[in-house]
Amino acid sequence: MFVFKAAVVGAGTMGGEIAYTIASADIPVVLKDVDQKFVDAGLGKARSIWQGLVDSGKLSEEERDRRLGLVTGATTYDDFGDVDFVVEAVPERMDVKQHVFAELDEVTPGQAILASNTSSLSITEMAEATSRPDRVVGFHYFYPASMMRLIEVIEGEETSPETVMTAVSFAQAIRKMPIRCAEAPGFVVNRILNSAFGEVFRFQEEHDIPVEEIDKVMADSKAVPMGPFFLVDLLGLDTVAHVGRYLNECYGDRFPLHARMQALVEEGNLGAKTGKGFYEHGK
Ligand SMILES: NC(=O)c1ccc[n+]([C@@H]2O[C@H](COP(=O)([O-])OP(=O)(O)OC[C@H]3O[C@@H](n4cnc5c(N)ncnc54)[C@H](O)[C@@H]3O)[C@@H](O)[C@H]2O)c1
Repeated sequence: MFVFKAAVVGAGTMGGEIAYTIASADIPVVLKDVDQKFVDAGLGKARSIWQGLVDSGKLSEEERDRRLGLVTGATTYDDFGDVDFVVEAVPERMDVKQHVFAELDEVTPGQAILASNTSSLSITEMAEATSRPDRVVGFHYFYPASMMRLIEVIEGEETSPETVMTAVSFAQAIRKMPIRCAEAPGFVVNRILNSAFGEVFRFQEEHDIPVEEIDKVMADSKAVPMGPFFLVDLLGLDTVAHVGRYLNECYGDRFPLHARMQALVEEGNLGAKTGKGFYEHGK
């Protein structure tokens, strides 16, 4: 099945960049959120990436405007009646995702594929909220979606081979590198990443070491582009904490929780997106 038109639901840390990847491959895309200010922020993010290409001489202003014209912002499902492929990118909570999947089941054509950008949760459980579990699949981008090439394509219990094939070829059409994954909590990358970060989190709290010190040592080692505490601030502490809690529930203490991170989330300090997390983030 060819994807002639796509949609992204949720225009937060990931959604605007996901829309950018789709429109950059010349495929029209609707970007929906619950409030116009989130839609505008998502559109602004896509625009600023194209603008960066204009500034570095890699894209003309006309081409920037043409690609921007392929992204339609929305706060309703009015433009979902002819979409072929939807990427859901709402918060990492099963109740929120199931609610959105039930709505998508109502408003999209029966043959449309409903994909989730979830970092860890069960595709099978999301699919239960729809009447087309064979057409529900995981489609997991990495941050920042405009730059990272990998996409994990996750098969739920009912996902059909045709759906997996369409997801894989759609990923290739938008110039990404898909890998097929079984439905294990955290899939491949987040299971490995969280197991490594979990040790760092545990060590930091046990020895009460300033997070800046850990980040500096790890970044100076050149083994990683930045320290884990700065990285999770960019990813969004609520997202990272939700994933961490789910992996802890599924796998136990080999995925330890970080008490300070949980406290920051409860205070509403979610990292770069709210201006404060482990670090203060200027505009
Ligand atoms: N942040 C990351 O680095 C990252 C990386 C890979 C995957 N993910 C996954 O992507 C998903 C989204 O994460 P995020 O970091 O972009 O979250 P976010 O909190 O930054 O953005 C979520 C957006 O969804 C919107 N939203 C909530 N309910 C909605 C609804 N019913 N309809 C439409 N929009 C709705 C919110 O207003 C918000 O703008 C999660 O499943 C997360 O695990 C995140």
